[in-house]
Amino acid sequence: MDPILAVEQAWQAEAGAAPLSDPADDLARLEALRVRFLGKKGEVAALMKVLGQLSPDEKRAFGQRVNQLKDQVTAALDELRAQAEARAEQAALAAGWLDPTLPTAAAGAQVVGLPALGHKHPITRLLDTVIDHFTGLGFEVASGPEIEDTWHNFDALNIPDNHPARDVWDTFYTTRGEVPRTHTSSVQIRTMQAQRPPIRVISPGKCFRNESIDATHLAAFNQCEGLYVDRGVTLGHLKATLEGWVHRLFGPDVKIRFRPAFYPFVEPGLDLDAQCFFCGGGGHLGDGGTCPVCRGKGWLEVIPCGMVHPNVLRNCGIDPAEWSGFAFGMGFDRLVMLQHGIDDLRRLYSGRLDLVRQL
Ligand code: PHE
Repeated sequence: MDPILAVEQAWQAEAGAAPLSDPADDLARLEALRVRFLGKKGEVAALMKVLGQLSPDEKRAFGQRVNQLKDQVTAALDELRAQAEARAEQAALAAGWLDPTLPTAAAGAQVVGLPALGHKHPITRLLDTVIDHFTGLGFEVASGPEIEDTWHNFDALNIPDNHPARDVWDTFYTTRGEVPRTHTSSVQIRTMQAQRPPIRVISPGKCFRNESIDATHLAAFNQCEGLYVDRGVTLGHLKATLEGWVHRLFGPDVKIRFRPAFYPFVEPGLDLDAQCFFCGGGGHLGDGGTCPVCRGKGWLEVIPCGMVHPNVLRNCGIDPAEWSGFAFGMGFDRLVMLQHGIDDLRRLYSGRLDLVRQL
């Protein structure tokens, strides 16, 4: 008898056999069939060995038929397996132990056969929180270009060309003399050019600087700017607004303090510190060890801010005699590091997901 026909008939006899009552047995039987017919030492492989004894013409015809048989068996096995799996699921449902309303495997759960659910990156989660918080206070979300002209990035912010303050925001220049924006403060300018006060905006986005990369510096990072311009805006408004945000971020009992700081586009310029939420401000842990979050200082430097400089208002055609405002600009990545006690910024951007999967 033709050897191919023999294998084909054997296959048909097996494949046609009635399914067993237990679907698990079906799956086992199908696996056994796969090994018997398609396995390395299976019947189809054995047919291929006959090839060597044939003439070139016979080889071609024989090879084609064996391949057809192989395809046919593969397709039929796939189909049978799908049917058996569907029956297994039905049986599980009927037996009552499969609850189809349960969520699929949660992120990181080791449930075989179910893909793990993804989740938002911690930076995106903070972004959602900041937008939720400030839109609740009546702020709108503004955005601006990541490649900026130097007027919006520097001059209009009271940082003139050749002024040493420009070095603080050291960066790259394009051949057209533009910069990848060094801070989101450029969006303050664009907003004040486009809108008349009262203005309340936050502007989250990417910024770029010429940094040597280390655990706390990256050449590309995230900031969120805030700007409020209205009649009679004072430092008191700035304090109340940012205190509320710090409480949302680190907890309602966390104290804040201001230190004077220099940023050319604000006067006075301030750095807002939050009392360390981890050690409670003492700088030490219960066992006497140094607090790893504030490194023993008791305070965390979190938000540079200040009252919008009159020159900046003027540069945007807003009369500082009538209007005043406050501005702030937070380093987002740093806040996420503090929130989660992460020691190296690069982990947040690494292709290795083991850290972000935990958060
Ligand atoms: N733009 C400043 C920076 O990137 C931060 C800042 C924003 C300071 C607004 C004061 C007011 O360093």
